Amino acid sequence: MKKSIGGGLLGLLAAAMLCAGCTADEKSDTQELRVGVLFYNQDDMFISAMRQELDECFRKTEKQEECRITVSFFDSMGNQLTQNEQIKQFIERDYDVLCVNLVDRTDAAAIIDEGKKADIPLVFFNREPVSADLARWDKVYYVGADAAEGGRQQGEIFLEYYKKHKDVMDKNGDGLIQYVLLEGEPGHQDAAIRTESCIKTIKEGGVEMRRLAGANANWRFNQGKEKMEGWLAEFGDGIEAVISNNDAMALGALEALDEPEWADLQIQVLGLDGIEEAQAAIKEGRMIGTVLNDAKGQAEAIVQLAADLGRDETPRAISHMENRVVRVPYDILTQ
Ligand code: GAL
Repeated sequence: MKKSIGGGLLGLLAAAMLCAGCTADEKSDTQELRVGVLFYNQDDMFISAMRQELDECFRKTEKQEECRITVSFFDSMGNQLTQNEQIKQFIERDYDVLCVNLVDRTDAAAIIDEGKKADIPLVFFNREPVSADLARWDKVYYVGADAAEGGRQQGEIFLEYYKKHKDVMDKNGDGLIQYVLLEGEPGHQDAAIRTESCIKTIKEGGVEMRRLAGANANWRFNQGKEKMEGWLAEFGDGIEAVISNNDAMALGALEALDEPEWADLQIQVLGLDGIEEAQAAIKEGRMIGTVLNDAKGQAEAIVQLAADLGRDETPRAISHMENRVVRVPYDILTQ
């Protein structure tokens, strides 16, 4: 445990403090663990679900373990320079451990070197640093999921639906599925890899595919909606399916489809993440399925690692961890 926070808090820190559990007086004889959590952008629907899970999990862990945990959540608002500055502040304040959702996943080296100099362990999550960076220090961990497996499970959902509802899906009966593709951010491990694995699984399952169009909509609802509006204007009823790298963009496409002009179109929409809004859309029969990107499981792994590393302990065993990388399994969600 490092020295206590001392004097007045930085204006910056006032942004989002969570002191999970009791006040200092009530627990003055217990240890205090100070954790900094940085999100690449909290406007992202899945990241905002992760924040909620992390919040709950830190509170639960504090109750279970003899330790007062103070967590400071920061939003880097899509700017790596802002995030670097926030990390610098945490290091100056001598926090015990930092949990980092990088803005630019190729930009971890300098952050790791700073952490190492100050001996403050780092748990990266959701946006995976390249392996050369992870190898820079043995107090660096990553928690996420296996992008290829996520895409494969999407492909399975698609195949299952196709088998049961071939005529509904292949509207023009040409033996091909004409689809449009909503991709996440360029350079993100969960974009191109999910796409490739999903399409490969569908093709290997014996279904011929024809891509009408595809574009990066950067994980965003609004951008997904905008792209879909353009494709509807261009291809209309020619579109048979929408494959999306995540739920937020898929939900945006659904909103575009809600326009009265398109009310009669039958277009099957497939997402990934399993956020509440997508689960509701599946129940209503508006999406054929999604893949659960297990925010709760990932939060549990992050919090357990942070609690151990922050107390200078060797991390307890964690399922699905190999070489300091935890890949929490995905799961299929359909009706
Ligand atoms: C992915 C998730 C996306 C988005 C992205 C942000 O794993 O599926 O919805 O949140 O992370 O890095």
